[in-house]
Amino acid sequence: MHVLSMRWDKIPDMMKSQLVLGIESSCDETGIGLVDTQRGLLAHRVFSQIDLHAAYGGVVPELASRDHVRRMVPLIRETMAAGGHALKDLDVVGYTTGPGLAGALLVGASVAEALALALNIPAMPIHHLEGHLLSPMLSVQPPVFPFVALLVSGGHTQLMRVGGVGDYVLLGESVDDAAGEAFDKTAKLLGLPYPGGPILSKLAGQGVAGRFKLPRPMKNSGDLMFSFSGLKTAVLTATKKPDFSEAQIPDLAAEFQEAVVDVLCAKARTALTQTGLSQLVVAGGVGANARLRERLRREIGKRGGHVFFPELEYCSDNGAMIAFACAMRVRAGKFRSGENGVFAIRPRWPLSELS
Ligand code: KG4
Ligand code: ZN
Repeated sequence: MHVLSMRWDKIPDMMKSQLVLGIESSCDETGIGLVDTQRGLLAHRVFSQIDLHAAYGGVVPELASRDHVRRMVPLIRETMAAGGHALKDLDVVGYTTGPGLAGALLVGASVAEALALALNIPAMPIHHLEGHLLSPMLSVQPPVFPFVALLVSGGHTQLMRVGGVGDYVLLGESVDDAAGEAFDKTAKLLGLPYPGGPILSKLAGQGVAGRFKLPRPMKNSGDLMFSFSGLKTAVLTATKKPDFSEAQIPDLAAEFQEAVVDVLCAKARTALTQTGLSQLVVAGGVGANARLRERLRREIGKRGGHVFFPELEYCSDNGAMIAFACAMRVRAGKFRSGENGVFAIRPRWPLSELS
């Protein structure tokens, strides 16, 4: 009891350099990051479970949890060694508490809390999307607050106004499927293997957009809401036409990608106009999409704005962004711990609840 009460009273010193370990296990990647609050990212390692889930055509939650158990400790050891530190040097452990798969989140949460308890240091629950949102700040040329963030992951499509660490105002989001989810579901119905998004976008590079005509859902809705589920249905309808052949899949993929990118670009431009801001930060797995990057760079650049993308290795899930978000909170004096030694995961957790 004594150890517990000591640890929960502890708050990392924002004025001194602090060594932060970040743990990510919300879905199908085990990610570990090591960040020094003064020196930045020291090392990170990711183990992707793609091969494990490929046979099932999607993530199997129970298998994901078990694999996190297998990978996590060796990956922590590897990251610590790569960063040139021992566990005893750590000052804080940050871990993804949600949103994500409950079982997978529990693995990271228990390892993080156990490690913090053993080392008598504080642990901080981190919101997965906050990790994505701040990940472009790991770049050599980072954005500065305030900016508009376009979060495009497998589970979320959101536009946020980011005023600072913990100052997130939701401007708009998808009413149904997320952009990444639309990529994945469309890939599946086109018979492409898991993970669908990147494979579909690769195929789109070999096709020509415009040969098929797909809708641009909610592009002119006048607000910042999105809808992507109808697009997948429109793709399915196109494949059911009697004259459709497999040779046309790249063209259909190209048109699908163009439709998603059209809508994302239009809404991102509107968000900048509405907020009067000039910087757009793109985060989440779909931020790796080459066509989205090209179009946003061109269109936002044309109006005198700047677009910031995380490096590709920080686009998909990773531990560096969790360690970094934790470090940013420590530096901003916004440390939060669980309550009195009790930790809880939050599989559903709106980002706008953060402060
Ligand atoms: O952020 P992330 O790694 O995980 C979540 O937090 O959801 O995003 C994964 C999503 C998946 O839906 C994946 O298909 C999509 O990002 N994705 C892509 C590309 N690379 C990953 N979608 C389109 N084009 C890509 N190149
Ligand atoms: Zn993610």
